[in-house]
Amino acid sequence: MPIHPIAPDSIFSTVDHDQHRQRRNAVNSFFSPASVHRLEHVLKENLGKVLARFDKHARSRSVVQMYYVFKALASDLITFYFFDKCLNLLDASDFGKAGFDTIDKFFLMTHIGKVLSWLMGLFTTATNWLVRILFSDLIDMRERRNHISSKWWSNAVRDIRNSPDPQRIKRTIFEGILSSKLPDSDKTDARMAGEAQLVVFAGEGTTAWTMHAALYQILANPVVCKKLKAELASLEPLADGIPPLAETEALTYLGAIIQETIRIHPGVISRQLRVSPEVPILYTDKIKGKEYSVPQGTVYSMSPLALLTFHHQTFPAL
Ligand code: HEM
Repeated sequence: MPIHPIAPDSIFSTVDHDQHRQRRNAVNSFFSPASVHRLEHVLKENLGKVLARFDKHARSRSVVQMYYVFKALASDLITFYFFDKCLNLLDASDFGKAGFDTIDKFFLMTHIGKVLSWLMGLFTTATNWLVRILFSDLIDMRERRNHISSKWWSNAVRDIRNSPDPQRIKRTIFEGILSSKLPDSDKTDARMAGEAQLVVFAGEGTTAWTMHAALYQILANPVVCKKLKAELASLEPLADGIPPLAETEALTYLGAIIQETIRIHPGVISRQLRVSPEVPILYTDKIKGKEYSVPQGTVYSMSPLALLTFHHQTFPAL
């Protein structure tokens, strides 16, 4: 499995099954619905910024590229969850477009890297001058995120650790790592900075892609758009225009749109690797009435696109 070029020590790059389980357990509870609800005030604050920017664009009649708005929103939110502060991309005039474009180019390269794994290794380990020649479009990402920004990330870890306010660390995912039974070698500034970068990296593109695809589907399907508007109209109008999270979560039609969007436009489309370390995986072909057994320890993978869009490849009228 290729090691993640940005965060080689992160959950994502942990190959050993038990070590991966331990590292994951340390942060699991921070992704629970209850934890997400505790972040509601941050969500509101950031959505307020988005609405203010929309107002500005509407007044100047200028085009706003939603893809970058969604990316900046996801990035600021997730980074804040780690550090109690963020890169404030929602305040940037272009919503941090250049950095996001480079990340997209990197993801394009990962498709080739699946076949030519040495390519990803080269990108990770080669010296900067060589990367500049071989991957000129991507050097910015490696330098920005690995060197300049890594200072931002490790400084932010140190800042949180040394904060005189004990509540500050409790508000962040670091609390989970620090209070876990993980060895001290897993609690260094460098590993925590890497873990944070990975989670932001994993969360910003997927979430933004989902929102972007949902917006497209809503606008491309007038019936869906009409039904959604009718459901949204049932919410109590509020001065800031942002309804409470619990109320939006209870909207079943909106929920169905989100689920269908993730099914048809999965945020991660590459084949996802799995290994059952101790027991074989049994599969029954119901049509042929045949049973197959994949021995334990076998590495296998499935394509989310093939699995999720098997029956319907288009957005149904719901
Ligand atoms: C709609 C949004 C999202 C989608 C579609 C999505 C999809 C996925 C998928 C398919 C995987 C598994 C990859 C694999 O098994 O190889 C994954 C892993 C992961 N995701 Fe997400 N994700 C989303 C949002 C987020 C967010 C918001 C965060 C963080 C705040 C996040 C953090 C992670 C992490 C850390 C992993 C690695 C977990 C591990 O290795 O144990 N994701 N995501």
